[in-house]
Amino acid sequence: MTVALEGRDLVSIFDFSDAEIEAVFALADEMSEHTRGKVGLCDGLIMCTLFYEPSTRTRLSFEAAMVRLGGGVLSVADPAQISVAKGETIADTVRIVESYADLIVIRNPLEGSARAAADYASAPVLNAGDGAHEHPTQTLLDLYTLRREKGALRGLSVALVGDLRHGRTVHSLAFGLARFGAKITCVAPEGLEMPGPLLKRLEAQFGCTPAQHRSLDEIVTNRSALKRRAGRQKALAAEVLSLFDAVYVTRVQKERFESQEAYERARSSYAITEEVLARARPDALVMHPLPRVDELSYDVDSDPRATYFRQAAYGLPVRMALLAAVLGRRPARVRPSRAGEYKPRPRREVDFRRLADVRCANPRCVTNHERYLQPQFLFAEYDAKLVTCAYCDQELPAPYAPEAES
Ligand code: NCD
Repeated sequence: MTVALEGRDLVSIFDFSDAEIEAVFALADEMSEHTRGKVGLCDGLIMCTLFYEPSTRTRLSFEAAMVRLGGGVLSVADPAQISVAKGETIADTVRIVESYADLIVIRNPLEGSARAAADYASAPVLNAGDGAHEHPTQTLLDLYTLRREKGALRGLSVALVGDLRHGRTVHSLAFGLARFGAKITCVAPEGLEMPGPLLKRLEAQFGCTPAQHRSLDEIVTNRSALKRRAGRQKALAAEVLSLFDAVYVTRVQKERFESQEAYERARSSYAITEEVLARARPDALVMHPLPRVDELSYDVDSDPRATYFRQAAYGLPVRMALLAAVLGRRPARVRPSRAGEYKPRPRREVDFRRLADVRCANPRCVTNHERYLQPQFLFAEYDAKLVTCAYCDQELPAPYAPEAES
């Protein structure tokens, strides 16, 4: 049993091992006793929330967590109020902020921005959402919700429904679910499917191949797929939702669309209503990271399966646990990793001199906006023939693949 996590960044869900995530959950169980009132664990410490995008739950639950732990909070809820508006970079901003605060929580629309912040700050950096890329602390609370409400993650069947292309919560969550042995089904309208490279990694690294569907109705009529996955001979189409222990719904991410027309086409293309839920299991969970727009009807709120408000509430003990552990005030007890479990490996960097003129092809990557950042590439953990951007995980196109380099 080691005591770890002090001083660590959480930029990607891959930064913590399975055993470390479980240690955070164990601490969150303890913190659940203290979500009202105050425990003095973080007396004298200060957290800065640096948010360049709107937020209700993530920022406020981080701030509530720090206040409940007895610490102080510096809050930037609007980048127009700080020197970012004058053109200050992420690198300079975090180096200033860490002279006032012991830990930084950052949300920024650029993919890889939290990694850039962590590279420049010596204080721990927690990623509260970097564009469409990742949202690892949301994944911690999503997994914690499933574990609290369902007992265990292994063997659970979870449908991810909605804008799986732009939704950062589902990107981190898919990896979290695969790592802990849950089965994933993707339900996304055309154009909003889970990104191909992410699916490739799920399969190559975790042997997870999610079933793919365009809508819940399509599943309803797709009897053969239903039978295969249900392992039953006489599955009835109407029972399709009974396959899922949890249905995780997400909104269409309006702010990440290239055009208003594309957004208009996508919005209202799916919705969970009481009528839809009539086909779900009586003990299924309906989850949503929130905010909701059109995709989750208010008539579901009174259904006992509606879990999203409890899910948001679990954000408090989970973030209290994370803060106390990373700030070294309540050490997490991490058991040794077991064979086959995920644990981060040293990052294998591609020799940069040979890639001197190469930039990441993702226009939303932080390295294409904050030009002082040196593009940096890694050999992919899941495929030694692939090279990916160290900031946003975008795969590098073929001419720069390592075979070409050797
Ligand atoms: C999500 C986010 O910001 O990615 N919200 C959250 O953090 N709870 C989901 C969303 O905005 O749709």
